[in-house]
Parts: sequence; C-alpha cells; structure tokens
Amino acid sequence: MAVDMELESVLRPPEFPQAPYPPKVITLANGKRMVVREVTRADVPQLLKSVHPTLFIDRDYYNVVGARVYAELIAWQYYRVQNEYVLVGQVDGLVAGIVNGRLYSPKVGMSLHTLAIDRGLRIGAHLFAAKMEHHIEYLNQDEVLIVAESPIGFRRWMIEYGLEPTTIPHELGGAPSYKLTRELYFKSKSRLVVGDRPVPQDLMDVAQQDLTVATEKAIREKIAGLKGR
Ligand SMILES: CC(C)(COP(=O)(O)OP(=O)(O)OC[C@H]1O[C@@H](n2cnc3c(N)ncnc32)[C@H](O)[C@@H]1OP(=O)(O)O)[C@@H](O)C(=O)NCCC(=O)NCCS
Repeated sequence: MAVDMELESVLRPPEFPQAPYPPKVITLANGKRMVVREVTRADVPQLLKSVHPTLFIDRDYYNVVGARVYAELIAWQYYRVQNEYVLVGQVDGLVAGIVNGRLYSPKVGMSLHTLAIDRGLRIGAHLFAAKMEHHIEYLNQDEVLIVAESPIGFRRWMIEYGLEPTTIPHELGGAPSYKLTRELYFKSKSRLVVGDRPVPQDLMDVAQQDLTVATEKAIREKIAGLKGR
C-alpha cells in the first residue's frame, strides 16, 4: 500500500519513548519452557493467524477478546494506536499466548488483552504477570488500569492480585477500571511473577526464527475441547 507520509504524520498518534521488554523463559507446569518476548509490527500478519480462529469460539469469551486483539494488532501495525506493545509466549517456537497493552500517559498504563491459546498451564496468568512486570519495572509506570472481560480473567487478575476498584472508565468498553499500583505489584511479585533471564541463546534462536502458528484445528481443540468445566 502506498503511504502518504505527510498525511501519515497527522494521522499517527504521537508516541512517548518506550523501553523494550527483556525476554525471559518460564518453565511451565508440564516441564516445557516458554519464551516470553516482545514482538514487532512485522510479526503482526503471523500473529493474526493465531488469533483468527478465536473469533468464532464463544466459549469463555474467546470471541470477544479475540476480535478485540485482532483489531488492536492491525491498528498497531498501521500506527493507529498510541504506544502499544505486544508480548508473546512461545513453546518450541509455537505461539501459546499473546498479551498487549499501551501507555495511556508516561506514568499510567492501560492493560489491553490477555489471550491464552494453549490452556491448563497458567500460560495466560504468566503472560499477564509479564505484562505487569513490563509496565512497572521496564516502562517505569506508577499504575496500570485493568478490566476483565471474562469470569476467568476476573479471578486471575482482580482476585489473585487484589486489584483496587476505581471509577475511571476503561478504554475497553468504558467499564470501571481496576488498578495495579507499584505497591501492589511488588507485594504480589514473589508469588505471581516468574521467569529467568537471560534466555539461553538456543531457545531464543528458535523463538525468533520460528514464530510458528498452530493449525486452526489445533487451536480450536486446545481452547474449546476442554473437558470438565
Ligand atoms: C483468561 C485466560 C487468559 C487465563 O489463561 P490461563 O491462566 O492460562 O488459564 P486457563 O484458561 O488455561 O484456565 C482457566 C481455568 O480453566 C480451567 N481449565 C483450564 N484448562 C483445563 C483443562 N485442561 N481441564 C479442565 N479445566 C481446565 C481451570 O478451571 C482453570 O482455572 P484454575 O487453573 O484457576 O483452576 C484464558 O482463559 C483466556 O485466554 N480466556 C479467553 C480470553 C480472556 O478471557 N482473556 C482475559 C480477559 S480479562
């Protein structure tokens, strides 16, 4: 697509400087190692393939969250959202989950979404923790505004972190935000934020060279095929 850079300079929101997220590796409950790393706009077309099947899964609000993530990824690719970042969790190169957020201001973070494609291993919980780590420790923010779009999300974030309710409308639909403060983050850190740095080079090479996407059938089975819930 031909881009008129003069017009783009008006259409693109101005951005604040944003520190990178240093990659880490988490050993999951099944012994597999998940690399958590920041991706770039160039990775968006590949990530969309992981998110697309979720648009049609009405279990556990995957469709609501998936559709929003899908739109946010494209908006980010085309510079139509201010100060977004995207982190992925990869196991053997395969995308297992995606989280994103943005800087509402230099000191206030806006948590956007958490989407776990592989389930039952707290992958979503680990990725949400990485997102909070990014806002507080690397982006050096004072607080993060959060909402839950699903009951599992509410249990995972509001209850597990003891987030503070506020009356601030959240960007995702205007629901009142909950807040993670620096104090709450450091209180929860030893319990909820895990992972080791640096990531061994062989693992990093696999993750970077191979942002693999599971087949649509596998993604559907992993999300919708759970028994006993
Ligand atoms: C919310 C979300 C990110 C949490 O991811 P997660 O931490 O990896 O957790 P899972 O989804 O695998 O598991 C959630 C619950 O489902 C059940 N579950 C998961 N896998 C299961 C399995 N194989 N068999 C039986 N139950 C299972 C468990 O009850 C589990 O809760 P528990 O571990 O606290 O007992 C994920 O469920 C998701 O992406 N949901 C859709 C989008 C969404 O709601 N995002 C958050 C918006 S606020």
